[in-house]
Amino acid sequence: MSDWSSGYVSNIGYTYGLYTELNPLRVKLAFLNAGLAFPEVGTACELGFGQGVSINMHAAASVTEWHGTDFNPSQAAFAQELATASDAHAQLHDQSFAEFCARPNLPDFDFIGLHGIWSWISEANRAVIVDFVRRKLKPGGVLYISYNTQPGWAAMAPVRDLLTEHSHVMGSLGKGIVPRIDESIAFVEKLFATQPGFLQQNPGVAERITRLKGMNRNYVAHEYFNRDWVPMPFAAMAEQLEEAKLSFACSAHYLDHMDMLSLTGEQQAFLKDIPDPVFRETVRDFMVNQQFRRDYWVRGPRRLSEPARMGLLRGQQVLLTVPRKDAALKVAGPLGEVELQQNVYGPVLDVLAAHQPRSIAEIEAACAPQGLNIAQITQAVFILAGYGYVQAVQDEVAIAGARPQTERLNRHLCMLAVTGTDVNFLAAPVTGGGFTVDRFGQLFLLARQHGHSQPGDWVTYANEILLSQNQRLQKDGAPMTADEQAAELRRLADKFAEYTLPILQGLGIAA
Ligand SMILES: C[S@@+](CC[C@H](N)C(=O)[O-])C[C@H]1O[C@@H](n2cnc3c(N)ncnc32)[C@H](O)[C@@H]1O
Repeated sequence: MSDWSSGYVSNIGYTYGLYTELNPLRVKLAFLNAGLAFPEVGTACELGFGQGVSINMHAAASVTEWHGTDFNPSQAAFAQELATASDAHAQLHDQSFAEFCARPNLPDFDFIGLHGIWSWISEANRAVIVDFVRRKLKPGGVLYISYNTQPGWAAMAPVRDLLTEHSHVMGSLGKGIVPRIDESIAFVEKLFATQPGFLQQNPGVAERITRLKGMNRNYVAHEYFNRDWVPMPFAAMAEQLEEAKLSFACSAHYLDHMDMLSLTGEQQAFLKDIPDPVFRETVRDFMVNQQFRRDYWVRGPRRLSEPARMGLLRGQQVLLTVPRKDAALKVAGPLGEVELQQNVYGPVLDVLAAHQPRSIAEIEAACAPQGLNIAQITQAVFILAGYGYVQAVQDEVAIAGARPQTERLNRHLCMLAVTGTDVNFLAAPVTGGGFTVDRFGQLFLLARQHGHSQPGDWVTYANEILLSQNQRLQKDGAPMTADEQAAELRRLADKFAEYTLPILQGLGIAA
């Protein structure tokens, strides 16, 4: 651990994740569903951006001015490389929260986001962040924050403390973090084999250790092996953010808005009898055994009148971002499998099937012959967005402003895909955010940019890249033969041409 790290794991990089909740455009649908006014976001800030994938996607795919920091210099350097490539409005630093938040030249922000930070930093750093939000978030501005919550961690919390304690007492620093993690997990497994009373009272934790064992070590290091690690009840969070004049707006996880997907009728009735919104959320966390919350908070909530809300909803465009055939109407929910009504969702999906932006008013008009009303349509769109089937679209001016930036960033990322697989996302000007495109998809796009228009040519292009680096795809844990590899790439290229490319074209990622 280094001096600058304040007890945070700094000798192993974080994963290259994209967190769509950090896309300010996503606030709109959530706030409209909750009946709240949302800000137009001109300035935004991300604290603790990790490898900087989210902040770079959101900066490149919008005309928003972004600022951010992460004190890990290797991660900040990678993030800055992406910002240089896109030449978007992104000022990225490798300062600590205390240093960054004291910068005299920062603008006031419409949106501040932090994902995977709050529970893993010291109380002093949490105070720095609350003070920053108090001073720098504009009235009407939105804070997105995620954190570990108590109910879902109740049984596992002592085990996480035991893992870190083992690493401190029994692990040797010189070994490096990954062997220490492996040894700490092995130790806990041996402990559990003795059938301790704790395990008998909390049998679920054995399964969680088994799952932990299979997880990416970069993630495990950052989630479990920090000095600071505090799961917090919702009420404690509300009390701290009150100091920055923030009120809870709504969950950033759209499906949390839909009680019928996660609560029984009896639970819904129980919650309805609790008038205090903060206490109600606290109780809800017990009902769903919440482990990780992702929330929007607002500095000064303002209710929209119903006509204003409906007007804004009708004007909002959305885009289908999965193949129409994959938009399954049987979906998994916390209460088990849910079947979405074919007579509502089928027509809505059909209107969106061409992967072109459609406003909710256009969907309403197209579905009128089937007798669907606006309430059914808005609920269907919101739930489809919650399952990741559709995304909100930004306005034409923002799309046009973002396009050159996303083209530059995507070209750079596709070039990185020639030698590696770290960033499996590209920036989409139409939705103001990132979209998953794996290494093969990125290589096929690169082939198209080099003038290869047919899937067969993309296969040759990608295969030459792989073979020049002695890379073989795996089948049943063994390298494929040359023929098998060519056939597998052909299968992927055909699928890409038929299903993925039309979506990427709709998103403005591919020409
Ligand atoms: C769990 S990671 C999350 C990264 C990113 N938000 C994401 O979700 O991909 C936490 C990040 O916070 C950064 N961090 C922790 N303490 C910090 C501090 N005091 N100042 C600046 N960055 C900090 C770490 O370097 C790390 O990249």
